[in-house]
Amino acid sequence: MSDELATLLCEAFNDGSGSITPPIVQSSLFSFDSYEAFEDRMAGRSKNAIYSRVDNPTVAAFEASIARAEGADAAIGFGSGMGAISSTLLALVKPGDHVACVEHVYPDAYRMFERLLRPFGVNISYHPVSEFDSDPDLLAGVDVAYLESPNSLMFETMNLSRVADYAKQHGALTIVDNSWATPVFQRPIEHGIDIVLHSASKYISGHSDTVAGVVTASHDLVNRVRDLTLPLLGSKLAPFEAWLLVRGLRTLVPRMQRHQASTNQIIDLLRSLDGVESVLTPDIDVNGGIIGRSGLFSVCFDPSVDIRVLCNHLTLFRLGVSWGGFESLALPARVGLAQAGAANSMRRFAVPDNLVRFSIGLESVEDLWGDLESSIGHARQRPASRVSTA
Ligand SMILES: Cc1ncc(COP(=O)(O)O)c(C=O)c1O
Repeated sequence: MSDELATLLCEAFNDGSGSITPPIVQSSLFSFDSYEAFEDRMAGRSKNAIYSRVDNPTVAAFEASIARAEGADAAIGFGSGMGAISSTLLALVKPGDHVACVEHVYPDAYRMFERLLRPFGVNISYHPVSEFDSDPDLLAGVDVAYLESPNSLMFETMNLSRVADYAKQHGALTIVDNSWATPVFQRPIEHGIDIVLHSASKYISGHSDTVAGVVTASHDLVNRVRDLTLPLLGSKLAPFEAWLLVRGLRTLVPRMQRHQASTNQIIDLLRSLDGVESVLTPDIDVNGGIIGRSGLFSVCFDPSVDIRVLCNHLTLFRLGVSWGGFESLALPARVGLAQAGAANSMRRFAVPDNLVRFSIGLESVEDLWGDLESSIGHARQRPASRVSTA
C-alpha cells in the first residue's frame, strides 16, 4: 500500500499550465464575467469558486489529494484540527442526540464536548477504547461514535472493522481521528468507518510550520459539513497553508517510514532500560486497522526516575506540545495535568503522572538515543553517596 500511496501523493498537479505544483491563489473572491454567470453560481447551477471562506483552488488541490489518500469521496480543509472536529460534529448533531466518545480523547476535543456540545443539549458518554469493539450493543441509541485509535497519550487501539459493523447495526455514524497513523499506517474508511479527520498540523504538514485540519468522507457527509458549518463557522484553511500541506503530502510516505524505523529502534532499547516501567504504543494489527507505527508514544517511568530532571537534561528533544514534525519532542504528563482552565481530560481519565509522551522526529536515531539514555540515566535517583569522614 505504501508504494501505491507514495506514487499517488507524488502525482504532479496538472491544470494544463505545466506547473507541477498548484499555484497559491491568494484571492478572497472570484469575479464573474456576466450577470448570468453570477446568478448561475449563486443558484448552484455552476461550480466555480466564489469566495475563499468556502471555495479556493489551492485548498481544493489539497482536499483532492488527501481524499484520495484516505480512500474517501471528498474532503474539506480547515484552519485547524479543532476546526475540523467542531465543524464536523456541529454539522451532524442536534440537541438530544447522543455522542459516544473514547476515553483519553485529545484534550481539546474533550473540552469542546464538555464546554460547547453538552451545554447545547447533546448527551456525551465516554467509554474505554476496548468497549467499542467488545460490546456489540454499546452504540445502541447512539448517533455518533467519536473515536481515536490509538487514543491520545495512552495509545490504546480498537478493531475498526468490528466497531464499524456494530455501529452500522445501530445506525450510528463513526468518526475516527487518524492524525497519529495517517493514511500511510491506517485507512479507516476501508474498514467501514464513515468519517476520517486529522489535525493536519501533525504528520500531514510534517514541518511544524502550519496549523490546519481536514475531514474526509462520502460526498453526502462532506456536503453536510460544506453546506452548514464550513460557511457558517468559518474555520477556513488559508491558501498558503493548503499549499504547504500539498507539499507535506508529497513526502508523507518516506517521512512516516523513517519515523517508524527510528521509533521501533528506540522503543526496543527503552524496553530494556533501567527506570522504564512500560512503553505505551500500539501493536501492528492489520485486521484492526494499524499497519505501521508512527513516531508518537508514551513511556511510564518507575519511581527511581525524576521526570523533571530528565526533561531538563534533554538537549535534542525539545519540550513542547504538538508532534508529527521533523523535530523530536517530549511532553511530561504532569505539565498537562497541571493545565489551568475548565475540563481537564487528563485529570478526568487519570493519565498517570509518571508518563512522558515522546515524538520521534527525523534526526539521527543514534543521536536521539544518546540524548534519551543519558537523560534517563542522569534522572535516576541513586542512593546518596556516603560522605567520607577520613
Ligand atoms: C489527536 C489530535 N487530534 C486533534 C488535534 C487538534 O488539532 P489542531 O491543533 O490542529 O487544532 C490534536 C492536536 O494536538 C491532536 O493531537
